[in-house]
Amino acid sequence: MIKTAEIFPSERKKLFDRLENKLETAYNLNRKVVSFQANKDEPVYRWFKYKEGFSSALVKYFLTKYAPKPGKVLDPFAGAGTTLFAGQELGWQSYGVELLPVGTFVMQTRQVLDKLDVEKLTIIEKGLWSEITKLKDFKNHINHISITKDAFPDETEEYLNKYLSYCSKIKDKHIETILRFAAFTVLEEISYTRKDGQYLRWDYRSKRVLPGKSFNKGRISTFKEALKSKLNKIIHDLSPTQISSLFEQFEKTNSEKKPVKIIEGSCLEELPKFENDFFDFIITSPPYCNRYDYTRTYALELVYLGYNNEQVRDLRQSMLSCTVENKEKIEFLSKFYTSIGKSEVFEEVLHVYNRSNAMMEVNAILDELNKLEKLNNSNIARMVKNYFLELCFVTYEMARITKSGGYCVMVNDNVRYGGEEIPVDLILSEFAENFGFEINKIFVLPKGKGNSSQQMGNYGRTEVRKCVYLWQKK
Ligand SMILES: C[S@@+](CC[C@H](N)C(=O)[O-])C[C@H]1O[C@@H](n2cnc3c(N)ncnc32)[C@H](O)[C@@H]1O
Repeated sequence: MIKTAEIFPSERKKLFDRLENKLETAYNLNRKVVSFQANKDEPVYRWFKYKEGFSSALVKYFLTKYAPKPGKVLDPFAGAGTTLFAGQELGWQSYGVELLPVGTFVMQTRQVLDKLDVEKLTIIEKGLWSEITKLKDFKNHINHISITKDAFPDETEEYLNKYLSYCSKIKDKHIETILRFAAFTVLEEISYTRKDGQYLRWDYRSKRVLPGKSFNKGRISTFKEALKSKLNKIIHDLSPTQISSLFEQFEKTNSEKKPVKIIEGSCLEELPKFENDFFDFIITSPPYCNRYDYTRTYALELVYLGYNNEQVRDLRQSMLSCTVENKEKIEFLSKFYTSIGKSEVFEEVLHVYNRSNAMMEVNAILDELNKLEKLNNSNIARMVKNYFLELCFVTYEMARITKSGGYCVMVNDNVRYGGEEIPVDLILSEFAENFGFEINKIFVLPKGKGNSSQQMGNYGRTEVRKCVYLWQKK
C-alpha cells in the first residue's frame, strides 16, 4: 500500500483519498521497461541512446493488452519515436508530434533504414576517411552558439566540418542521412562536454574558463576513431545475418508496415488540428516537471543540425514549461485558440485548471515558499504553475481526439520542491477526468534503489511516485 497520504495537507490529501483505489504497484513495469534501457536491441536506439525515452516493450505491452486490434496510435511528445515504431511493428498507423529536432532527426533516420543500401554504405565507409582527409575546399558547417563554443578540440572541429561538407555531396540521400546520423551519435564522446540534465559539464581541458571544481571526463575519442567504430557497428548490425537475429520484429514486418507520420512542432499547436475521435490509443511521456533542459542537454546536437542561438532560444521557450527559464504561454494560448475560432475551449480548459483545489493548493504553497526564499530558484513556482497549465491543454486535446473506449497511457514522475510533494499523477488524472477520460489505473513503479528514503536528502521522508497512468475515454 502506498503511504504518502499522511504528508499531504488538505486538498492534496483529499484528492489522494479519492483516487487511492486507482493506485496500484505494478511489479511487471520495472524501471528498465519504463526507461530507454530496454531498447538496446532496437535499430537506431542501439546506436543513439535517447535517455529521455521509454522502451518499445512498454508500448507493445499496452497496445497488445488493451487494444483488440491495431488502429491509430499517437505520441504527442514523440521523442525518438519509441511509440511510433513499436506501434508500427504491431501493424498500427502511428503519428507523432515532436518539437526538438534531435528527436525528429532520429525518427527520420529510422525511417531511412528500410531503404538503405548497406553494401553501398560498406564500400563508402572503406574509402571515407581518405576522402575526408583530402578535402581542401570545405565549408564551416558547425556554427557555435554561446553554450557550445569550444566544445570540440580544434582538430575534431575541422574534421567535423570536412565530414559535413563531404556528406552534403553524397547523391544517395539515404546514405547521406545515415552518415550524418553516425557523426551525430558521437558528438558527446568527441567533445569536452558531458550531458548533465540542466546543462553541459565541461572538461578541464577545454579552452573555457571554468568556475568551480575541475571535471575530467576521461579519455576523449578522436573523431576518426569514434566515427569509424560507430559506422562499423551500424553496418555490422544491418548485415543480413545480424538483422534477422537482432531486430527480428523489425525485419518480419518490413513489408506490411504502415507509414509513420512525424510532425515537427509543438503539440500545443498541433493537437488542435486533429479531428475529434481520431485515435484509438495514445502512449506518451511529457517532459517531467524537474527542470531538465533538453535544449541545453542537446545543444551540441542542435548546433550540428544547423540551429543558431535564436532558434535554440525559441525552441527552449516553445517546449512544455519544465525549466525555470520558461516564460508563461497563457497569452499565446489565448490568442491561438481565438485564431482557430475556439476561444470557448480556452475558457473551458482554464476553468478546469482553476477548479482543481489540489492544483491551487500547490500553487499557493509554492508562492508562499518562494516569498520565504525556501525554493532553490525563484522561478520554480512559475514553472510548476505553467507546467500543469500547459498539460491541462494537452490533456483536453488528447481526450478530444481519442475515440470512445480508446486509451491514453502516460509515463511521468511526481516531483518535490521545498519539501512539498507535488502529486503530478493525481492532478493530471483529475484534469483528465474533467475532459472525459475515466481513470482506469495509476500504475506505480516498485521502489527503486536510486531514490530510497535514505538517499533523499533533507526532505527524504518518502519517495516520490514514478507512475504510468492508464486513462480510458468514456
Ligand atoms: C520524456 S521525452 C519523450 C521520449 C519518448 N517517449 C521516447 O521514447 O523517445 C519528452 C519529449 O517531449 C518533447 N517536447 C517538449 N515540449 C514539447 C512540445 N511542446 N511539443 C512536442 N514535443 C515536446 C521533448 O523534446 C522530448 O523529446
